[in-house]
Amino acid sequence: MTDARTPLIAGNWKMNGVAAGGAELAAAVSAGANDVSAELLVCPPTVLIAPVGAALRDGVALGAQDCHFAQSGAHTGDISAEMLADAGCAYVIVGHSERRADHGETSGDVCAKAMAAYRAGLRAVICVGETEAERDAGKTLEVITAQLNGSVPSAATAENTVVAYEPVWAIGTGRTPTNDEAQAVHAHIRAALSASHGAAVSDGMRLLYGGSMKPENAQGLLAQPDIDGGLIGGASLKAEDFLAIAASCP
Ligand code: 13P
Repeated sequence: MTDARTPLIAGNWKMNGVAAGGAELAAAVSAGANDVSAELLVCPPTVLIAPVGAALRDGVALGAQDCHFAQSGAHTGDISAEMLADAGCAYVIVGHSERRADHGETSGDVCAKAMAAYRAGLRAVICVGETEAERDAGKTLEVITAQLNGSVPSAATAENTVVAYEPVWAIGTGRTPTNDEAQAVHAHIRAALSASHGAAVSDGMRLLYGGSMKPENAQGLLAQPDIDGGLIGGASLKAEDFLAIAASCP
C-alpha cells in the first residue's frame, strides 16, 4: 500500500445467500463503513444485486461477479455489463479462477468481458492466479504474466481496472502465501503492467490479494507495499470479519 492508492476491500459473496440475509449483511457492512478508510465493495450473486443495492448506504460500492462481453442479444442466462450498470453496479469481477475452471473461460474471454465493463462504465476487477501444480513446478510468475498479457485490455487504466492476485491453491483452503511471497508476486504484477501499460498506469492501479484472507492474516498482507487491498470470499459473508479486514489496512 502507498498513500497514492486508496485501499479497496472487496467481498465476493460467490453463490451464497438469499434476499433477506443478503440485505442484512449489506446493511451491517454499511453500518461500519464510516469507521474504515478503505473503499468497500460488495459483489453479491446477480439475483441479489437489487435487494443488496437497496440496503447499501453511501460508502459501499456494489459490484457483480461476471458479465457477458456482448451488450445484448441471444445469450440465454447471461447478463450484460450494461444491465449491471443499470442495476446500480460500479464494478464487475471478471476472470475469477472459479469461472476459468467451471466455465472454461480463457484469458481472451476475460479480456473481452473487461472491455465490456469499460463500455458500460464499470470498473473491472480482473483476476489472475496460479494453480498448486503450477506453483510446485516453479511456474507462478510465468503463468501470471501470461494471464495478465491475455486478460488485461490495452485500454486498462488505473481508474477503470483493479487486478486481483488469487492463488488458486489459497482459495477457500485456509492456506496463504507468506507475506513476502505475496508481495513478490504483486511486485511482479506491477512490473508486468508497467511493461505493458506504462509506469503511470501501473503505479496508480490497485492490486488486491485474494485467497483465505481473514482478520488474523490481513494486517501482514495489507502492509506489503504492492498489496492495495483484498478480494475476500468466505470472510466477506460475516460483516464483522469483513470490516475487521478493512480496518487492518495501514
Ligand atoms: P476465500 O476468501 O474464501 O479464500 O475466497 C477468495 C476468493 O476467491 C475471492 O474471490
